[in-house]
Amino acid sequence: MKKIIYYFSGTGNSMRAAMKIAERIGGAELVNVRSDPDDVSAEQADVIGFVCPVYEWDIPGAFKDFIKRLNVNPNAYIFMSVTYIAVLGKSFETVEMLLSEKGAHLNYGRAIRCVASQCIAYPPFPPEKIMLPYMEKQMEQVGNEITQRKQRPYPRMSPITRKRFTKVMGPYLKIEKEYDKGFYTDDRCTGCGTCSKVCPTRNISMNEKRPVWNHNCHGCNACVAYCPTKAIQFKTPEAYKELKTLVSRNLRLPDKRKRYHHPLIKAKDMMCDRKELNSDE
Ligand SMILES: Cc1cc2nc3c(=O)[nH]c(=O)nc-3n(C[C@H](O)[C@H](O)[C@H](O)COP(=O)(O)O)c2cc1C
Repeated sequence: MKKIIYYFSGTGNSMRAAMKIAERIGGAELVNVRSDPDDVSAEQADVIGFVCPVYEWDIPGAFKDFIKRLNVNPNAYIFMSVTYIAVLGKSFETVEMLLSEKGAHLNYGRAIRCVASQCIAYPPFPPEKIMLPYMEKQMEQVGNEITQRKQRPYPRMSPITRKRFTKVMGPYLKIEKEYDKGFYTDDRCTGCGTCSKVCPTRNISMNEKRPVWNHNCHGCNACVAYCPTKAIQFKTPEAYKELKTLVSRNLRLPDKRKRYHHPLIKAKDMMCDRKELNSDE
């Protein structure tokens, strides 16, 4: 039986979830959506999973693009899990819509509450001490339910979020390409290239031992969180200053602020594109 789980992760929460689920269901292949969809087709798969964070009340654009190009077996058991902090928005609906264009449907959808990863907007919260055991518990529950091939209707966008989506998220999504203009390195940068290798959109190239951000960024913070010398800094890009919203006005990265990543997901895990995980049963 072929089981395959596709994931996107910036600070490791979603990768941890994907790994836990893969271990639980046994013998699943884990595929980072940095891969070319033609090389990692799910046409022959019996179990297909999608795991990613919620960004701007939806799934990351790179994840959407990947699913659009992916071939799937419409008769497979298909599940999706997102990691998030408070607002799911249309994440599940987006994936269901993309799958329905291929004649496939989600059999199971469940969200996992995690530590906030957006260290450029605010410090990580709630406290890791409370959240990490809770995250593990939720991931185990999801893994168990998927092992049982449970059918679970996916959560829908609330009417309030639906009504406010375009007004609240529209302006951010419009200037998303400007976001990485805020990144720069200070003299702690050793040119090791970790930032470039952990980036889930392959947005960072290296030039004369310094990272260059190429404007295909979702603000996932992988580069910031996994930089071994904390050399990556951020100044608010002009386009964000002009938005004048509470969040855009407060984008900053004080030196003392914790640059959160999931403690069990190391830089080498984030660099990996494909992995086979055996059962823990
Ligand atoms: C750019 C960005 C946008 C986010 N938008 C949302 C959101 O709309 N709703 C939400 O609940 N969490 C949001 N979050 C929090 C993440 O979904 C959450 O921390 C997730 O677990 C991160 O997963 P990762 O560690 O796999 O990258 C956002 C985080 C980032 C970096």
